[in-house]
Amino acid sequence: MNKIILAIETSCDETSVAIIKGNELLANVVYSQIAEHQVNGGVMPELASRLHVEKITIVLEEALKAAKVNLPEIDAFAFTAGPGLIGCLHIGTLCAKTLALQYGKPLIPVNHIAGHIYANQIDDEIIFPALALVVSGGHTEIVYMRNHLDFNVIGMTLDDAVGEAYDKVARILNLPYPGGPVVDKLARQGNNIYNFPIPKVSGDYNFSFSGVKTAVLNLVNKLKMKLEPFSIDDICASFQATAVDILTNKIAKALEKYEVKQLLLAGGVAANSLLREKMKEISHNYKVEILIPPLKYCTDNAAMIASASRFLYDRKSFCKFDYKINPQLSL
Ligand code: KG4
Ligand code: ZN
Repeated sequence: MNKIILAIETSCDETSVAIIKGNELLANVVYSQIAEHQVNGGVMPELASRLHVEKITIVLEEALKAAKVNLPEIDAFAFTAGPGLIGCLHIGTLCAKTLALQYGKPLIPVNHIAGHIYANQIDDEIIFPALALVVSGGHTEIVYMRNHLDFNVIGMTLDDAVGEAYDKVARILNLPYPGGPVVDKLARQGNNIYNFPIPKVSGDYNFSFSGVKTAVLNLVNKLKMKLEPFSIDDICASFQATAVDILTNKIAKALEKYEVKQLLLAGGVAANSLLREKMKEISHNYKVEILIPPLKYCTDNAAMIASASRFLYDRKSFCKFDYKINPQLSL
């Protein structure tokens, strides 16, 4: 079906609107608030909501212009319904509800994590069964999928998400927010010379990242106290090697049990250079095809929400106008 769907993403610090026609992405406009949040060293929810209010109509107009589509031509309006920051989610939801009401079209609530997984469906085709590694600022999960929209979470973090650990390590090292891209860049210049522990966690496919973050903090404190010179690049390289090991060990273990046709990488941390490399190695070793979204679809964007919404539209997974967003929405 060549339906035209307009999707809105405002769950955290990106205001984004995308328009999709069938499987063809017509526009994906993203306004990132990173610069505004950098002065505070992280996302301030109240400021994020206000910036979404300021930017949403501008981003909407830009997307319509880029797609060469008029609002009455849109067949459905999709929005991120959670998980995310409550005030931020409200802005995109309100915008989608207003448009759907005005033009008498269906409303499609989309799970943000499902969106990250469906970033793999923008330029490629997901083939089932598939195993997805979701790695973002708020989530770290392994998801087994037998079919479209059939999500079985088989493993998750028991404490920090991997992106959160990256951001916290960056803070320990006085690096700017968001920490992931900076730590990744410095890690490429450094050497993996510090041994951080790989945690033992309950459950076959669960993760833990707070131990490695604390190990980085303890190491930095110790080196500073001893007045020993140290290279931030080496600490980044050692942390990155451990974080990626934690992730890939569990994915390899899951591939031993779950016979899948595809491995999918999803979420902001999917932009990580070492993780992309190691996941390709694993897919090669296990002879499983791998999909990794292009960098622009790894961090938050509405194209991934539009991509998931196509399949929800086919199932008529529509909601009413009194639909309530859920900041803790799970898959
Ligand atoms: O998916 P996302 O844009 O937002 C959430 O839904 O959380 O992910 C943001 C997270 C941040 O923690 C950021 O530091 C991390 O993704 N990130 C990275 C990289 N690029 C972004 N982490 C590691 N390496 C990167 N290259
Ligand atoms: Zn996200």
